[in-house]
Amino acid sequence: MSDPASVTRLDVLILGGVVVDGSGTDAIRADVGICGDRIVAIGDLAGTDAEETLDAAGQIIAPGFIDVHTHDDRMLLETPAMTPKVSQGVTTVVTGNCGVSLAPYTGKNDPPPPMNLLGGREWYRFTRPEDYTAVLHEKPAATNAVLLCGHSSLRACVMDDLSRAATTAEIDRMARILDDAFSAGFAGLSTGLAYPTASAAPTQEVIELAKIAASHGGLHTSHMRDEEDAVLEAIDETVTIGCQAQIPSVISHHKVCGQQNYGRTRETLSRISEARQHMPLGLDVYPYIASSTVLLKDFLARAERVMVTWSTPHPHMAGRDVSDIAAEWGVSPEEACDRLNPAGAIYFQMDEDDLKRVMAYPETMIGSDGLPHDERPHPRLWGTFPRVLGRYVRDEKVLSLTQAIHRMTGVPARIFGLTDRGAVRSGAFADLVIFDPDTVCDRATFEDPVQPADGISRVMSNGQWIWRDCAPTGVHSGRHLRRAA
Ligand code: ZN
Ligand code: CU
Repeated sequence: MSDPASVTRLDVLILGGVVVDGSGTDAIRADVGICGDRIVAIGDLAGTDAEETLDAAGQIIAPGFIDVHTHDDRMLLETPAMTPKVSQGVTTVVTGNCGVSLAPYTGKNDPPPPMNLLGGREWYRFTRPEDYTAVLHEKPAATNAVLLCGHSSLRACVMDDLSRAATTAEIDRMARILDDAFSAGFAGLSTGLAYPTASAAPTQEVIELAKIAASHGGLHTSHMRDEEDAVLEAIDETVTIGCQAQIPSVISHHKVCGQQNYGRTRETLSRISEARQHMPLGLDVYPYIASSTVLLKDFLARAERVMVTWSTPHPHMAGRDVSDIAAEWGVSPEEACDRLNPAGAIYFQMDEDDLKRVMAYPETMIGSDGLPHDERPHPRLWGTFPRVLGRYVRDEKVLSLTQAIHRMTGVPARIFGLTDRGAVRSGAFADLVIFDPDTVCDRATFEDPVQPADGISRVMSNGQWIWRDCAPTGVHSGRHLRRAA
């Protein structure tokens, strides 16, 4: 805490709130002073001169949330107000997850599923990583961004056929592009070995690329090859990649799918704990028992219910269940899938107790995995962070408020190497959220998913308000953040 007496004039003074600083330690009653883009004082600041003084009595002041798992590559450019995220208190997004990044892409045609979750060829227009970062620097968004380079995107750049392993020459070409991505300030490599664009890649292909990422001080995020019956083997593969390439790794949206696997997070979490003894391994989760991605026939059998989120040939089917559509058309669900594609879907296929167990696990981070371009998106896009704070902290008491905030701020700042972020302390960047702990909650539902949360009163990135009076301010003060390894 800096000496409040030494601060003579502030840009912003937040009085009377309760500071939860992101480190996991107890909340304290304190005023917060901001000058420029930094927090400069914390303590009793009553009477200090300030450009703007704000009363935060009864409210929590926390570091802005870091959404560690997003597909916001395009939203940052297209709708830089980033309303689905900023309205939740998010000030930093990690993009390019699940092996899919908008940049780079050199294909002539529309990218194949799941890459089309981010759009068609018109959005995949950045042939080099630096072409994307240049646009982001020129026209920043409201939130900060940490960029990952997707393995499937790399494959689509250098391979004519994604249904096979890459050759040595192709791995080499991917490695050079990955070098360029790190030069442009990307923070790591993401993979999605469960998807048709990457499932033919052997472990060794990923290890070779992960070694390149490690040589630049990057990290690896993994949408694992399997989140069903073979989930333990998939964890082992992620660990093997991490150990062989000597790279810090993150298991994305950790879950076990399919009724026959309900309860198995007991096994997966103990396997993760074992691995954590000898390697840096993190994980993230979203607070829902349904997943969402492209509509794939192979994914039908495992889910109790499948709801369409978008369909190019049948846009009006968004929001309806595949089983109902199949019945109406008088065809099998598989045939309905064929007719609906290209399309996206929500799959109800997880167990609430597993979700709570993953959320209660020490150091599990929160990542929305929101899909901003879906017609009827999974509610996690708008609801993730307030839902953790409302439903799982306040109502269900799965974790404490200070713990939850720690996992949304201090933990991801450390794992992603974000210097002076994810903390309310003197000298840190002024990325802040002010919210009411008694009312904060998600309002987005599966039926009505485009709904801002309740209880988030103000959000600031780099010393500037980006959310106030239930609306974006129009200020786009986010930055492209590089990883300090
Ligand atoms: Zn994923
Ligand atoms: Cu994802």
